[in-house]
Amino acid sequence: MIRAEHICYSIDGRPILDDISFSAEQGEIVTIVGPNGCGKSTLMKILSRLLKPDCGSVFFLGKPLNAYSGKELAKQLAILPQSKQAPPDMTVEQLVQFGRYPYTGLGGQLRAADFTAVDEALRRTGMDRFRGRSICTLSGGEGQMAWITMAIAQTPRILFLDEPTTYLDICYQLEVLQMIRRLNHTLSLTIVMVLHDLNQAAAYSDRIFTMKPGRCYSYGKTEDVLCDAMFREVFSVEMNKYKNPKDRGGTDIVYMPERIVEKYEG
Ligand SMILES: Nc1ncnc2c1ncn2[C@@H]1O[C@H](COP(=O)(O)OP(=O)(O)OP(=O)(O)O)[C@@H](O)[C@H]1O
Ligand SMILES: [Mg+2]
Repeated sequence: MIRAEHICYSIDGRPILDDISFSAEQGEIVTIVGPNGCGKSTLMKILSRLLKPDCGSVFFLGKPLNAYSGKELAKQLAILPQSKQAPPDMTVEQLVQFGRYPYTGLGGQLRAADFTAVDEALRRTGMDRFRGRSICTLSGGEGQMAWITMAIAQTPRILFLDEPTTYLDICYQLEVLQMIRRLNHTLSLTIVMVLHDLNQAAAYSDRIFTMKPGRCYSYGKTEDVLCDAMFREVFSVEMNKYKNPKDRGGTDIVYMPERIVEKYEG
């Protein structure tokens, strides 16, 4: 569905991404993990055309990203960046309606199909009860859900989520992750997300993409990627592993960082 080849990107002459290749198949959940500042958000922005790479190409459904018009792409691809800001007096409903922007004509008028998509998105995420509330009065978790609802109203085929669970309590984290999985199952929505919690990455991803500063370290199935060498060489930690007595749907190991090890310069 999306494929990036040999992406390089620098800022003021400082290389941020160096020869990164990435792909996600239709209907997959792929999670990008890696230390702070390694380039995860930058990669997500390049994959969703918010940033243009210095070299390399990104293909969506086999076509180069830059062959799509802005609206054409926005109908198929939605991104929720790490930090988001809505105008202070905007209501949840108005924010979600914003997701219909790629479908509107010149005057930006919403049509019947747009109102239906907005209602449907609000229902799917359980945000209907907050419809008339101003975004700035929502809690962090409710706010995150409002943004996800906006992305759903966009009816994309691929959704990029940069740290969707950060700052949320464990209940909301679970709610957001279960929602992501439900959208993936019911709409066959392809998901590419960034998470810091490796247990959550293990439980909710089909494949995990691990990054060291500026480059890919490994990419593959959870059980192949989450190994001692990766924890040591990417995160500089030694992990304790515990067998989970409950079936968590494919993964049965719980990881707990034990101690910091020397930085691996490889
Ligand atoms: N506009 C910018 N100007 C200067 N440096 C930048 C800019 N944007 C990103 N960087 C740098 O690029 C590197 C990668 O940043 P990025 O936000 O992609 O990291 P990240 O992996 O998402 O980190 P985190 O886990 O903290 O969100 C960092 O060193 C950051 O300081
Ligand atoms: Mg980031």
